[in-house]
Amino acid sequence: MSETAKIILDGKEYELPVVVGSENEKAVDISKLRAQSGYITYDDGYGNTGSCKSDVTFIDGEKGILRYRGIDIAEVAEKSHFLETAYLIIWGKLPNEQEKEQFDELIRRHELLHENMKHHFQGFPPQAAPMAVLSAMINSMSCFHSHLYDIDEPEKFMEATAKLLAKVRTIAAFSYKHSIGEPIVYPARNLNYSENFLHMMFDAPNHPYELDPEVVRAMDLLFILHADHEQNCSTSTVRMVGSSEANLFTSVAAGVSALWGRLHGGANQAVLGMLQGIHDRGDSIDTVIAKVKDKDSKFRLMGFGHRVYKNFDPRAKIIKEACDKVLKKLGRKDPLLDIAKELEQAALKDSYFVERKLYPNVDFYSGIIMRAIGIPLNMFTVIFAIGRMPGWIANWKEVHESPQARIYRPRQIYTGPTQQSYDEARKKA
Ligand code: CMC
Repeated sequence: MSETAKIILDGKEYELPVVVGSENEKAVDISKLRAQSGYITYDDGYGNTGSCKSDVTFIDGEKGILRYRGIDIAEVAEKSHFLETAYLIIWGKLPNEQEKEQFDELIRRHELLHENMKHHFQGFPPQAAPMAVLSAMINSMSCFHSHLYDIDEPEKFMEATAKLLAKVRTIAAFSYKHSIGEPIVYPARNLNYSENFLHMMFDAPNHPYELDPEVVRAMDLLFILHADHEQNCSTSTVRMVGSSEANLFTSVAAGVSALWGRLHGGANQAVLGMLQGIHDRGDSIDTVIAKVKDKDSKFRLMGFGHRVYKNFDPRAKIIKEACDKVLKKLGRKDPLLDIAKELEQAALKDSYFVERKLYPNVDFYSGIIMRAIGIPLNMFTVIFAIGRMPGWIANWKEVHESPQARIYRPRQIYTGPTQQSYDEARKKA
C-alpha cells in the first residue's frame, strides 16, 4: 500500500497521499486539503513547496548534486557543448548525429533578427540596462512571430525554440554594440554558437576579433553551467506565465525580468562590485567577514548561500577551476580572484557561515571569468539569461504539454483590514 500522511485539524483526521519522485524525493500531496478541510498550507517564499513534477533537472542540495536529465553536471560540462546540452535539457535525450546537424542548421537559419527589430535598439538610450533591453526585445519577438503563439505541433515548438536560442544571443550582442556606439556585427556562418556570440560582441571593422579556443570553451562552459536549475525564481516565473497559456516568447521574457534581481541572476554583477569595492578600499578579509556578521549592516556576501544548496554548489567548483585556467592562458593575474579565494577560505572556516551552511554559489567566480574574457559588468546577467534559455524553454514545454496542466494560482492568508465602509475608511484618511 502506498504511503500516506495524516494531519489532524480541528480534531478531525485527514489522510493525504505521498508523492515519491524518481530519486526518492517525497512530498505530501495537499491539493485536496482545502476542499476537504477549509485549510490551506502556508509557506512564505515557497521554501518547502513542490510546485510541480518535473523530469528536467535533479538537485540534491545537501549532497551538492546537480544533474541535467540524469547526467551529472561535471560530466555534461566536460563532454558536451552548449547546443547539445540545450537539446538534452529541452527534449530529454542527447541528439543523434542527424538530429544534431538539423538542430545546428535550424539555429543558423534563425540567428538573424527581423530588420525591423533592429530599429527598436535605436529607441533605447545607450545607457539602458541590458536586462531591460533583453526582456523587451524577447517580448517583441511575439509581434514578429505570431504564427508561433499556438504551438500545437512538435515542428512549431522546434522552430520557436531555435528562434529563441539563436536570437537571444544576437539581441544581446546587438544591444551591447548599440550601447557602446559601434556598428552591429552579424553572425558568421562558419562559427559555432559560442564563437559566434564572442564574434558579434567583440569584432569591429577596425579591430578584427581573434577567437581563442580557451576563451570560447570558457564561454560555452558558462552557458552550460547556467542552462537549468529546476524551480528557481525565473523558471517558476516562466512556468507561472506559461500556465495561463501565454506564448513561449512572452513567458521567457518574464523569466528574464525575474532573473534580473540581485538575489538571483543579478548576483554575478553584484559579486564583482563587492570584490572591486573591497579591493579599492583596501578592506581586510577580517573586516569584510565582521561586516557580514554585523546584523545592522545588512551586508551579505554576494555569491554565497543558496536556497537549495546546503553544501558546495557543484557549478562553483567547475567555474573556479575554469577561472584559473582562463587567467593562466590569457597570462593575466586578477587581484579580485585573489580576494575571492581568500574570502572563500575565511568564510568556510567561520562559524557564521558554517552554521548557516553558506557556501560559494555559481556566481562567486563566474564574474571573474567574464571579466577576463572582456564581457562588461552590466552584461554579466545577460550571459546568465542566454545560458538559462534551455531550462526556461524545457519548463514551459512541460507546462504546455502536461495533461493535468492548470493555471498556476496560489492562495494567500489575508492579513488586511476586515470589512469597513467607504465612509469609515474616509474618516481614517
Ligand atoms: N551572506 C551573509 N549571510 C547570508 C547570506 C550571504 N550571502 N545568505 C544567507 N545568509 C544568512 C541570512 O542572513 C540568514 O541568517 P539568519 O538566519 O541569522 O537571519 C540565513 O543565512 C538564511 O538566509 P535566507 O535569506 O533565509 O536564505 P534564502 O534561502 O532565503 O536566500 C539567497 C538564498 C541565495 C537569496 C541568499 O543566500 C543570498 O542573498 N545570497 C547572496 C545573493 C546571491 O549570491 N544570489 C545568487 C544565488 S545562486 C544563482 C541563482 O540561482 O540566481
